[in-house]
Amino acid sequence: MTGVFFRLAVDADAPALVDIYNHYVSTSNVTFDLDSWTPEDMAHKIDTVTALGMPFIVAEIGGGLVGYGYLSKWREKCAYETTMENTLYLRDDARGAGIGRSLLEELLRLGAIAGVREVIAVIANTPDAVPSIRLHEKAGFARVG
Ligand SMILES: CC(C)(COP(=O)(O)OP(=O)(O)OC[C@H]1O[C@@H](n2cnc3c(N)ncnc32)[C@H](O)[C@@H]1OP(=O)(O)O)[C@@H](O)C(=O)NCCC(=O)NCCS
Repeated sequence: MTGVFFRLAVDADAPALVDIYNHYVSTSNVTFDLDSWTPEDMAHKIDTVTALGMPFIVAEIGGGLVGYGYLSKWREKCAYETTMENTLYLRDDARGAGIGRSLLEELLRLGAIAGVREVIAVIANTPDAVPSIRLHEKAGFARVG
């Protein structure tokens, strides 16, 4: 993996990020969504995560966005305020080159700085989710259900 640069997302990234995400809405089970997102949906997510003080980061290669990840609330109740759910998506043609692993490491590093104590990945138990399952297991996540 070379030439990948991580930075915080801004609302102007939303159109490129929905292109990445909506590919998986229409071709896989991994999103748990049936409907495509609009750029406004994604900008709202960026704003919500950022207002929470959590990282929403994008991965760039040569100025083009190849992926993103963020930490968002796991549950509303205050007992869960240091527990976050993670989300990671790479452009389909950028997969399998180690970017996902680096993106997850960066997200966990920034989350720890923000005070996160526990991160939960909600992953479908389907063949198209195998890369995500393996990625998380290699990063030390344990299966709990
Ligand atoms: C899941 C995802 C983020 C992984 O990122 P990636 O860059 O493709 O993965 P990496 O190249 O960093 O690989 C990390 C580990 O994941 C596993 N992995 C990656 N692709 C795999 C594949 N096709 N089959 C099996 N394991 C795979 C490997 O164990 C790999 O470690 P190794 O190279 O030491 O064996 C990416 O594939 C993706 O965006 N998938 C579609 C969306 C998705 O499922 N998102 C997660 C929702 S929770």
